[in-house]
Amino acid sequence: MAILDKHKILETNATLLLIFSFLVVTIGGLVQIVPLFYLENTIEKVEGMRPYTPLELAGREIYVREGCYVCHSQMIRPMRDEVERYGHYSLAAESMYDHPFQWGSKRTGPDLARVGGRYSDEWHVDHLRNPEAVVPESVMPKYGFLENRQIDGRYIADVMATHRVVGVPYSDEMLENGQADFLAQADPDSDYDALLERYGDTVNVRNFDGHEGVSEADALIAYLQMLGTLVDFSTFTPDASR
Ligand code: HEC
Repeated sequence: MAILDKHKILETNATLLLIFSFLVVTIGGLVQIVPLFYLENTIEKVEGMRPYTPLELAGREIYVREGCYVCHSQMIRPMRDEVERYGHYSLAAESMYDHPFQWGSKRTGPDLARVGGRYSDEWHVDHLRNPEAVVPESVMPKYGFLENRQIDGRYIADVMATHRVVGVPYSDEMLENGQADFLAQADPDSDYDALLERYGDTVNVRNFDGHEGVSEADALIAYLQMLGTLVDFSTFTPDASR
């Protein structure tokens, strides 16, 4: 009875009720929000994740610049229709090096989180040039001009350094070799062993757009071709205890 009496005091005094409600909401809010500031606690690390190579990172910058995210999400939700269409649902760790992240639910075009390796480089070149030539009902704009814009990776180490500030683990060595690695990845005749040593054997080293030199299309396709390929889902088992 006593507790009910005390509760009545709260219920009949608007100011007190307000103060106590505020306290409860504050405590509840803190319990939910504070742990998120310590990302190490909230992101389950998974094997295979690595920072983007300089060429992929340049491609990603182009992806963001061109607003590809306006029509494409990179976030497969754990719903049956999405998993059946795109592949394993996205893990938080898969976007741990993404600044800015590419989640979303606006899908004028398909989700791209697992598009890596789904099509050939030539397919991407043709598709970027003229989407309708490849997929007749496509409403995607043409991006053929990217092939004609040469880039030399001059600034990529600065971009990598900026990403390091926000937590992407680029080493000094990776920064020092940023431009060299950038050029090596787009040239299969180059000496790219050091690139693979730094970023792993799974890095695609190819002339992505089929033209001489490095173009914006090379960088963009290098990025598209690695999307969703880092984690090996044939061996991945979610570990809820971590
Ligand atoms: C106006 C919306 C729009 C924009 C902007 C857009 N796309 Fe698309 N995209 C689509 C649509 C619609 C499709 C599906 C039809 C097709 O394959 O062309 C598509 C398909 C794709 C596919 C094939 C995906 C699959 O699984 O079949 C890729 C890859 C792609 N887009 C990449 C890009 C890139 C890279 C950019 C930015 C340079 C971009 N898109 C910008 C609408 C868009």
